[in-house]
Amino acid sequence: MLVTKGRRRLREGAAVALALALSLVTGGLAAAHAEEDAPLPAQEAAQAQQATLRELADQRGLRMGTAVGSQYLNQADYARTAATEFNSVTHENDLKWETVQPQRGQFNWTNADRIVDFAQQNDQMIHGHTLVWHSQLPSWVRDGSFSEDQLLDVMDTHISTTVGRYRDDIATWDVVNEPIGDDARFRDSVFHRTLGEDFIAEAFRMADRADPDARLFINDYNIDGINAKSDAYYELVRDLLAQGVPIDGIGFQGHLIAGQVPSSIQQNIQRFVDLGLEVMITELDIRIQMPATQQKLEQQARDYEQVVNACYAVEGCSGVIVWGVTDAYSWVPDTFEGQGAALPIDGNYQPKPSYWSIHEALGGDPGPGPGPDPDPTDPPSGECEAEYTVTNQWQGGFQAQVTVTAGADLTGWTVEWAFGGGERVSHAWNASVTSSGGSVTATDAGYNGTLSAGQSTSFGFVGTSSGSVSEPELTCAGS
Ligand code: G3I
Repeated sequence: MLVTKGRRRLREGAAVALALALSLVTGGLAAAHAEEDAPLPAQEAAQAQQATLRELADQRGLRMGTAVGSQYLNQADYARTAATEFNSVTHENDLKWETVQPQRGQFNWTNADRIVDFAQQNDQMIHGHTLVWHSQLPSWVRDGSFSEDQLLDVMDTHISTTVGRYRDDIATWDVVNEPIGDDARFRDSVFHRTLGEDFIAEAFRMADRADPDARLFINDYNIDGINAKSDAYYELVRDLLAQGVPIDGIGFQGHLIAGQVPSSIQQNIQRFVDLGLEVMITELDIRIQMPATQQKLEQQARDYEQVVNACYAVEGCSGVIVWGVTDAYSWVPDTFEGQGAALPIDGNYQPKPSYWSIHEALGGDPGPGPGPDPDPTDPPSGECEAEYTVTNQWQGGFQAQVTVTAGADLTGWTVEWAFGGGERVSHAWNASVTSSGGSVTATDAGYNGTLSAGQSTSFGFVGTSSGSVSEPELTCAGS
């Protein structure tokens, strides 16, 4: 049984304070090996010194979550990996209506509580999934014949009981899941049949009454890029906001296929953020046609990097949740015949190339996998050098990356430049950036300040531009 210990829930940013404590916890994937008596092979020893994804995300105040199943938490490797690599958990199935209230008025919290307790023991955030969904509904709801008032009463009981129970524990909820089909029209369900599209606004009002502090999301798949379905969501949430419905965010589930990540994902995140919503990538996996080859895994790594970078480039995209701890626990092979290997950690708890591409996107090292290695034999002649690359451009804005390479052993660095064409930095990562007009000073973010001669690190930013985007002259000073 859950013991409520005051308001323990963590919000983005609060997790940062955990980084130090976590570094005392076992060292991520390599921990499974580090606990054995035998000396570590070189590659594993190198991994043991790497920060975990959780530590990197905590340092940046971002969510890096996973979906978990209560039935697996008694497996030591599973529990350790879920706790050390992720700062957020989502109930993959254990909070769904059919599990929580299988018969009318009979609530069963056993499995849901196990995950809440696990998250609290490990100081993790919880993203609540899900309250109103056409699927995994008990038959008494799915096939029920209700008047409007009766169904509103059924919804209110379910939502107020569930959200009320976890008021102190769960800070964000998928209130309504998948209400629109791939045809961009409202999906048939008992909710839509009985109440029309108003069931969505009603569900959000009910959740808000049950916990006015919770952040409330609508959530769906195939809305990651700009397309007819995400356009329908754009219209829907704009209407909900105009009606004063308490909706705070939208979840892009991100069930994707390797090599087919929509190129408009960042632009799509940005347009929902511009409406005033928080965006979260809530169920990310990127599936591969089996068998997985090195080439396919490298494509998948680039895909993960693209999604993670798209989120982290937009202030207002609060993070990413992957849909399972390892490939062994993914829903993909059960649903898509011949496809799998969709997650960043394989079934033997080994990091895949996509683990390392996320690691790098979060400001860590690219790991032992593919990726440009610094050339330690050829350091620059001064304290450091900085190279500026514009990586993306659009009307009124751009994204750039700066790579700092140390010429001597450094404990910190500062890069300065002046924009020539009216550009301005609006949101940076992996560096602390201050601007005065077009003059910019970027200093290391602490965790990436220490570089040995020849070693490199990168930071990036999104900027605004009023005309052309130039590549300015940089100066780099080390300490
Ligand atoms: O609990 C029964 C178990 O008793 C039985 O022995 C077993 C036999 O197959 O089935 C078990 O139920 C399965 C359940 O997961 C729990 O493991 C169901 O068959 C299976 O269909 C169900 O799949 C889940 C699916 O939602 C249902 O729609 C997946 O695990 C879960 O990952 C998936 O998650 C959804 C999100 O909630 C919403 N977005 C899409 C995402 C992927 O489909």
